[in-house]
Amino acid sequence: MTRAVRIDQPGGPEQLRIVDVAVGEPGPGEIRIRHHAVGLNFIDVYQRSGLYPFPMPLQLGMEAAGVVEAVGEGVTHLKAGDRAAYAANPPGSYSEARVMPAKNVCRLPDAISFETGAAMMLKGLTAQYLLKKTLPVGGLQAGDFVLFHAAAGGVGLIASQWARALGLQLIGTAGSDAKCALAQANGAAHVINYNTEDFLARVKEITGGKGVKVVYDSVGKDTWDKSLDCLQPFGLMASFGNASGPVPPFAPGILGAKGSLYVTRATLFSHIATRESTQAMADDLFAAVTSGQVKIHIDQRYRLEDVQQAHRDLEARKTTGCTILTL
Ligand SMILES: NC(=O)c1ccc[n+]([C@@H]2O[C@H](COP(=O)([O-])OP(=O)(O)OC[C@H]3O[C@@H](n4cnc5c(N)ncnc54)[C@H](OP(=O)(O)O)[C@@H]3O)[C@@H](O)[C@H]2O)c1
Repeated sequence: MTRAVRIDQPGGPEQLRIVDVAVGEPGPGEIRIRHHAVGLNFIDVYQRSGLYPFPMPLQLGMEAAGVVEAVGEGVTHLKAGDRAAYAANPPGSYSEARVMPAKNVCRLPDAISFETGAAMMLKGLTAQYLLKKTLPVGGLQAGDFVLFHAAAGGVGLIASQWARALGLQLIGTAGSDAKCALAQANGAAHVINYNTEDFLARVKEITGGKGVKVVYDSVGKDTWDKSLDCLQPFGLMASFGNASGPVPPFAPGILGAKGSLYVTRATLFSHIATRESTQAMADDLFAAVTSGQVKIHIDQRYRLEDVQQAHRDLEARKTTGCTILTL
């Protein structure tokens, strides 16, 4: 038996309960992993609240690092005793140990600690596919402007540093001056406090009226309309989250009126659909981290039993960078 965090019905943080669960043997294509640290992500909030519906009861969590204890038939890229980390479906990482599909689990380089591995997989692989695979027509070149909302958050701080390494001029938004300073210290070329400043006016000012080539928007409802106006003609609106609520339905005609814009609603899980794509993206992320181009900021740590407080703080915008649950 091991401890895990489960919800029996969707709702607020009070639904998160520690339970004892049995962990069996891995079947074909599966592994059993003992976690050393667990990553907290905003997607966990959507799953807990019911915005992303799941059958109940649900053991939450999509990111962790630990040691492989056993591998099932057909698993060749991992063996018992390997250090490993993952971002993966189905949820269940809020636990001391679990059995799960091996496909998205990657060997963790010795130079990367368990805590860093747990913090960076889901957020880092997301920054990877956003900056390298979610591109406007003609791609992105050094010097290009992109707008990245919530730049001081978990995904945001990784993306800010990686964008700098790619030579991009990332304009980062954040909800306080302190968060803006943090984003700027981590690679954002320009920062905007979108709680006190009009981010559209500032983007126009910073780009000399031209606008940006891509908007990476995980805030959703509150930023959608103005973000479209921040784009150059043929620019790309890359929507990838809904921290402020889902984007309401819109008429495609608006994209023509604003300059033949492109829109995608991207998710990591399309990008890590195969073992090969997962490993290729993870290798790129590991290289960025071990080379020092990207530093993983673990700004909050909570014990597994304090998971309710961790969710409250994430939703209340009190966190910066990555958050982990310790065991
Ligand atoms: N589609 C994908 O593949 C994918 C993968 C990973 C993450 N995501 C999304 O990317 C975003 C970032 O994820 P994360 O785990 O790194 O979280 P995070 O950025 O650390 O936390 C979310 C941030 O969103 C901002 N925010 C703006 N309006 C908000 C509101 N009404 N309520 C709460 N927060 C608000 C806050 O920053 P400020 O105070 O600075 O505004 C907050 O700190 C989330 O929306 C997540 O769902 C998507």
